[in-house]
Amino acid sequence: MGASSLRPSLLLRLALLLFLAEHGVCRSYSRGDFPADFVFGAGTSAYQYEGAVDEDGRKPSIWDTFTHEGRGPHKSNGDVASDGYHKYKEDVKLMTDIGLEAYKFSISWSRLLPDGRGVINSKGLNYYNNVINEIFKQGIKLHVTLYHGDLPQVLQDEYGGWLNKRIVDDFKEYANVCFREFGDRVSQWTTFAEPNIMAIAGYDNGIFAPGRCSYPFGTYGCTAGNSTTEPYIVAHNVLLTHARVVELYRNTYQDNQGGQIGINIYSMWYYPLTSSLLDLEAAERALDFMIDWCLHPLIFGDYPEIMKKNVGPRLPSFTQEQLEIVKGSFDFISLNHYTSSFVSDNSNGSQLSQRDYFADMFVKMGGSSNGTETDQGLPFKMLTDPLGLLRMLEHIKENYGNPPVYIEENGYGLGGADTLADTDRINYLSVYIGSVLDAMRNGAKVKGYFVWSLMDLFELLSGYNSCFGLYRVNFDDEERTRVPKLSAYWYSNFLKKNIEVIDFEGFVAGEKFSATQ
Ligand SMILES: *[C@@H]1O[C@H](CO)[C@@H](O)[C@H](O)[C@H]1NC(C)=O
Ligand SMILES: *[C@@H]1O[C@H](CO)[C@@H](O)[C@H](O)[C@H]1NC(C)=O
Ligand SMILES: *[C@@H]1O[C@H](CO)[C@@H](O)[C@H](O)[C@H]1NC(C)=O
Repeated sequence: MGASSLRPSLLLRLALLLFLAEHGVCRSYSRGDFPADFVFGAGTSAYQYEGAVDEDGRKPSIWDTFTHEGRGPHKSNGDVASDGYHKYKEDVKLMTDIGLEAYKFSISWSRLLPDGRGVINSKGLNYYNNVINEIFKQGIKLHVTLYHGDLPQVLQDEYGGWLNKRIVDDFKEYANVCFREFGDRVSQWTTFAEPNIMAIAGYDNGIFAPGRCSYPFGTYGCTAGNSTTEPYIVAHNVLLTHARVVELYRNTYQDNQGGQIGINIYSMWYYPLTSSLLDLEAAERALDFMIDWCLHPLIFGDYPEIMKKNVGPRLPSFTQEQLEIVKGSFDFISLNHYTSSFVSDNSNGSQLSQRDYFADMFVKMGGSSNGTETDQGLPFKMLTDPLGLLRMLEHIKENYGNPPVYIEENGYGLGGADTLADTDRINYLSVYIGSVLDAMRNGAKVKGYFVWSLMDLFELLSGYNSCFGLYRVNFDDEERTRVPKLSAYWYSNFLKKNIEVIDFEGFVAGEKFSATQ
């Protein structure tokens, strides 16, 4: 540990006491209840954190283009973001202050290979070597994501990016550079962050880069796209690319480097809105379309039956040879998990002549931004539902042969102004971590948990309007000053003191909190 401990101000401690007085005492657990080789971490991603978008040879990614065109639900961009490109040293200190055991981040493809392939940008290479060395020195495990949404724009322009199978070779070349240059220090490689969201948000409703879609979507101005076919093509090409990259890692690097490789999937638990058979089936279908779309091929070598049935010939199929390399192409499954949702059957969906991912799924889900109700006045989305994560982990244990799982993102972002006394976030994190423990006690092979995010950053969906960080970043300040929120102290106490955290009394009695400022 060595590093200085975090000490909350008197004001923050008072806020915590007030929170405890209101919420009382729950059950308790401590770090010691988790295995020693389990890792607790936090994460960021390149475009959301680094900034320096045109510095030292980096060329644009599709996210630069998308945000500079003023598209997406917010009118901001990651040009500076949390300025991680310049502040990584300070940030590694923030990690050690908390006592993080692991850190998850992603590499910007167009910083390392500005033209998507070919010449390596030596300054980009240096940056990632510096970051990795700095973290590695502290004994913090490195979980590195190769791709978090930021395709080099040049490959989008040249052949349509993920819509084209040519992407497989280019991505393999990029992955090869990463394995060769950084792999000796990386313990976990995640090939893709949320391929299901990449496909849906990028190519069905068009709210993420590259913002392609067709009618009835287009709120943020899609100029091209085909929502009936492209999401499926993109997810298919991502799965094939993933499988080839895992093959490369296993054949060339894994024995020497000793790391592991997996893929990340965005997950959400689904409850039927009513107990009708149609709604029960809708909830299962939602799970098939959202999670099993990616998981089923990896575990069983093919898409779920219901997807083949509803999507028909628009769903690409695997050749025998592809099927064999996709199946089993992971050492672990990584999940991002935030919420649960209620779904109901949408009989209209199956009848729409205008097909798209959501019509194929024919469920109604989602909800208002505050998660309480939809236009129809139905309670669709639940923001804090730790049981949803428990059920998700049970589902994977029961139906997918209990593979090793990392929760690589889980966290709480407040709309609007965040407060340093972020007791809601503490409450959220503590109950979700509790669910991870429950799942493990029931036999799920969960290996790690990461808070999203280490600090406030550019959120792909909400720009700077929501703050998920353990550290607040002042985006009005050129220095992008970081200040720990109460949740940073809370997490730190949990990790360092091995005290019982859910038992909030125990937490308050913790040494650090009785020390004066
Ligand atoms: C989408 O692609 C399908 C299949 O090629 C085609 O039938 C349909 O017209 C396309 N839709 C749009 C909006 O281009
Ligand atoms: C089905 O669509 C029609 C026409 O858009 C609409 O009036 C009706 O309310 C929809 N039914 C349901 C159950 O959503
Ligand atoms: C959620 O948002 C709606 C619309 O802005 C508002 O009417 C409602 O009161 C909000 N509910 C809660 C619990 O904040």
